[in-house]
Amino acid sequence: MKNLLSMESVSNEEIEAILKRAAEFEAGAKSQLERDYLVANLFFEPSTRTKTSFETAERRIGATVIPFEAGFSSTLKGETLYDTVKTLESIGMDAVVIRHKKDAYYEELLEGINVSIINAGDGAGQHPSQSMLDLYTIFKEFGKFEGLNITIAGDVSHSRVAKSNIIALRRLGANVNIVCPTQWQAEFEAHHDWDDLLETSDVIMLLRVQHERDAAFEGYSDESYHTRYGLTKEREKRMKDGAIIMHPAPVNRGVEIDSSLVECERSRIFKQIENGVFVRMAIVENILKGRN
Ligand code: CP
Repeated sequence: MKNLLSMESVSNEEIEAILKRAAEFEAGAKSQLERDYLVANLFFEPSTRTKTSFETAERRIGATVIPFEAGFSSTLKGETLYDTVKTLESIGMDAVVIRHKKDAYYEELLEGINVSIINAGDGAGQHPSQSMLDLYTIFKEFGKFEGLNITIAGDVSHSRVAKSNIIALRRLGANVNIVCPTQWQAEFEAHHDWDDLLETSDVIMLLRVQHERDAAFEGYSDESYHTRYGLTKEREKRMKDGAIIMHPAPVNRGVEIDSSLVECERSRIFKQIENGVFVRMAIVENILKGRN
């Protein structure tokens, strides 16, 4: 892969290769990069997991991580994203990992930029590395995607994680259902109640209510959302044997999930974060090796 921009831009074969390499890293494999590659992480929106996970992954495969702090960069003087990335390319970066509030910000960079771009989240667009780590987590659990029943619950309209996962999981043969209020279903078909989804799903994937993106609609409250759509203790008891709970995090405890369920036996929420390092090692290695 030259870039990782969206899940449409990755083939099933490329996904398979990333998951296989991630498993090798998890089993202790080391990366043998042929030269000193330079990588910078450009986060123009807040992040805990993705930023530190990428930086950890880059260091573990032996790349050199060049510090970049968006809040102390010339972006504050009005420099465009294109000029910032072109500048880093001119300094010698091989790859840049970018999170940005603008949907498909990378389209601005595709013409005239040679540095590899890894999308770490574009507005309400996509979050492909999160999707890859979610796929890895699901595959490790079930050994397949074909025929799995996966329910995504929450604000699909603002969720880049949901969009990447719906595209990837459906293409890999999973049955993906969505449960959410009408206001959050965007262009997707959705259930507006849990119906029989708790009893039939292999994976319940919860989405964060994105208060920072003004996700609330008229009549919305955290309490009413939790009562109707949240994963309560009662709902968790209706889940089938072997079914798992996922959430990309950060979690609004007591809103999309009861706080006591965040680390319950079914939950893979912190396992997803752990898996993310191996998956990002595989992604960054794949992209850097492609530059030789
Ligand atoms: N899941 C995720 O993208 O988390 P961060 O915003 O902390 O990176």
